[in-house]
Amino acid sequence: MKIKSSFKCSECGYTSLKWLGRCPQCGNWNSFSEQKEEKKSFLGNWASPQRLSDVAPIGLKRYSTGIGELDRVLGGGIVPGSIVLIAGDPGIGKSTLVLHAMEGLSKPGTILYVSGEESPQQIKLRAERIGIKSDRIILLTETMLEGILSRADEIKPEMIVVDSIQTVFSGDVISTPGSVTQVRECATRLMFYAKKRAVPIFITGHVTKQGDIAGPRVLEHIVDTVLYFEGGKTTPFRILRAVKNRFGSTNEIGIFMMRDRGLIEVENPSEIFLTQRNTSMPGSVVVATMEGTRPLLIEIQALVSPANFSIPRRTSLGVDANRVSLLIAILDKRLGINIGGMDIFVNVVGGLKIDEPAVDLAVVSALISSFRNKSINPDTFVFGEIGLSGELRRVNNADVRLKEAERLGFKRGVVP
Ligand code: TYD
Ligand code: MG
Repeated sequence: MKIKSSFKCSECGYTSLKWLGRCPQCGNWNSFSEQKEEKKSFLGNWASPQRLSDVAPIGLKRYSTGIGELDRVLGGGIVPGSIVLIAGDPGIGKSTLVLHAMEGLSKPGTILYVSGEESPQQIKLRAERIGIKSDRIILLTETMLEGILSRADEIKPEMIVVDSIQTVFSGDVISTPGSVTQVRECATRLMFYAKKRAVPIFITGHVTKQGDIAGPRVLEHIVDTVLYFEGGKTTPFRILRAVKNRFGSTNEIGIFMMRDRGLIEVENPSEIFLTQRNTSMPGSVVVATMEGTRPLLIEIQALVSPANFSIPRRTSLGVDANRVSLLIAILDKRLGINIGGMDIFVNVVGGLKIDEPAVDLAVVSALISSFRNKSINPDTFVFGEIGLSGELRRVNNADVRLKEAERLGFKRGVVP
């Protein structure tokens, strides 16, 4: 056995053979501590190889959260032994979402809810506010990983929720809670626990504004499923998006609304997004877009106005700004509509993000409508990709989009 010594930054995990006063990677002072690493010689007990065709399939049992929108994003519920990360800005509603989910998940058994952020009274207050009745939710306000795991061994819950991973720390790692080293270590240990006991674990994680160093990004490869909970500060809409899912597809989204009694599911998003539409305004058009397997009709707005400064302003919310610039260039080159020198704002209503080329035609229509100051017939919807030579190109799922538009009473479609 050989003992090797090195120095490791407790903030970002940078290692060096010498002690350093300031970390060259993250710039923190006095963050290095010595680590003695034992090089063990491993012997015996290796995993035995087996034929892939001989591996017995496991029937993927799934627990339903009782929330249709969440279940769908998970791929039909949560799989035992899997670990799901729900990431999002502080205050977006992660704790509220997991609390709602626990009500449904506690039907088959006990849930251990580990919270390192709030006192039991605060949690009780929120639970009462959103009407949680289950008596199978066991609350544990512990932040030390070893404590959490040993309590979990006593309670033997059917499921564990850790809110949030940034507050959990392990005594085995010399590093402050919330640092990359801690977050990674704790998530890894939770993952081993989940696999060993076949219990599913939900963890929440804050996305930090300053480069999210200790945020969910460092966990993405450890966990099975990563869900991002997003939404504007000013709208009640919240969107749950799967960015990684070992047990389902990643192009599903769930749509919620934050109300005074918690989150409610939005099952017919098109109807809700279109209710407040001012149909007579120039610069507004409805696009039939796809979110995962679901069609979604949503309003795109544009505002084109003479620039007050020599450099025109361009803002685009919900659609890719580069794509908008490209479409403006195509308008100029192919249609002779020159708006490049004007202030241009493009917005997707409801705080949604659309990242499929089918929105091109809607952006262009809204831009021209605003520029000409002529409104588009409110019974019209559009979709289609626009190529560099100005041609309208086909997009997938045209039939699904058309059907949804028809269901919502649209009469005219401008489509490829
Ligand atoms: P929370 O779940 O605590 O967010 P996170 O865990 O992501 O930090 O949600 C906090 C916000 O949600 C807070 O600003 C208040 C709001 N909220 C409501 O509007 N209605 C509700 O019923 C609840 C429980 C919270
Ligand atoms: Mg919280």
